[in-house]
Amino acid sequence: MKSVLVTGGAGYIGSHTVKELRRKGWSVVVFDNLSSGRREFAAGAELVVGDLRDPEAVRAVLARRPFAAVLHFASLIQVGESYADPRKYYEHNLTTSLNLLGAMLDAGVKTFIFSSTAAVYGVPEIIPIPEENPLRPFNPYGRTKAMVESILRDYDRAFGLRFVSLRYFNASGADPDGGLGECHDPETHLIPNILLAALGRRPALDVFGTDFPTPDGTAVRDYIHVSDLASAHVLALDHLLSGGTSEAINLGTNRGYSVREVLTKAEAVTGLRVPRVDKPRREGDVPVLMASSAKAEKLLGWTRRWSDLDAILATAWAWHRKLL
Ligand SMILES: NC(=O)c1ccc[n+]([C@@H]2O[C@H](COP(=O)([O-])OP(=O)(O)OC[C@H]3O[C@@H](n4cnc5c(N)ncnc54)[C@H](O)[C@@H]3O)[C@@H](O)[C@H]2O)c1
Repeated sequence: MKSVLVTGGAGYIGSHTVKELRRKGWSVVVFDNLSSGRREFAAGAELVVGDLRDPEAVRAVLARRPFAAVLHFASLIQVGESYADPRKYYEHNLTTSLNLLGAMLDAGVKTFIFSSTAAVYGVPEIIPIPEENPLRPFNPYGRTKAMVESILRDYDRAFGLRFVSLRYFNASGADPDGGLGECHDPETHLIPNILLAALGRRPALDVFGTDFPTPDGTAVRDYIHVSDLASAHVLALDHLLSGGTSEAINLGTNRGYSVREVLTKAEAVTGLRVPRVDKPRREGDVPVLMASSAKAEKLLGWTRRWSDLDAILATAWAWHRKLL
């Protein structure tokens, strides 16, 4: 059976992708330091607990088997924290990626799938955003991802490393079979925070910004179900392993929902009132982020099964209500 190495495979998006890889017949080794991931999320894969900041540990895990490819999810992920402590983000996200890429080249593994983000675009010029939109990230988190994308282009040209950089929009929802879901600490994402407020696990939802130039004044985002993200990773892997070229590809839905629209739908799905408090805009938040998904559909043959907002909320709700 062919093997892949998945960094961050005990985290939210990584664990859903591990499940999909296994369903498609891949043997999976997860490398994770469990700083935010959960051991039980890597069930079904071989879990190696280790830190990507340790080059020897990275070399050792790559020597365990001949890997066909590496999928790199591990990262620090909080935009707000990256403003407050950019050093932490540059040191972590760049060192970990460089250690991994260096060890891969040394081991002769030249197929790579990278977890990038809509944050690489900054304020978009075109909506829905195509991949050709200039990359002008304005928070340190987004800049680390854009920098790794630049490194990947150079390593492709110089060393023949083939990569797909997947730029996720707002990952959301939970495994429709149960067992996996979102649980960041602290939680900064909208949908889990709405559900936690509905459950009384937080006093209220903070609505950051009610004066954006959008129909109801709140920010509009593109919500993509985590299981649809997972299937895109397997397709990206197939693309590279069948000789495809290196690419950056958006993963989103071509449409967006405002914070108030998500709140209204969440109240319908849960049958609960969601307490809320209006707050000023957060630094760096843009009014609208919405992906063009045309490239993923055309190049990878990607279709979305779960990314309707009702399905996202229903699966997230099934997961979060179990946490009560
Ligand atoms: N969640 C989103 O909406 C979103 C959107 C765009 C991009 N992304 C990207 O997707 C990826 C996964 O995000 P997520 O939401 O699943 O995050 P997560 O925090 O749930 O998962 C990250 C995993 O990486 C592990 N990890 C972190 N640092 C490590 C290190 N130094 N060594 C080994 N393991 C380490 C953590 O323990 C965790 O299991 C990240 O690269 C993130 O930037 C996420």
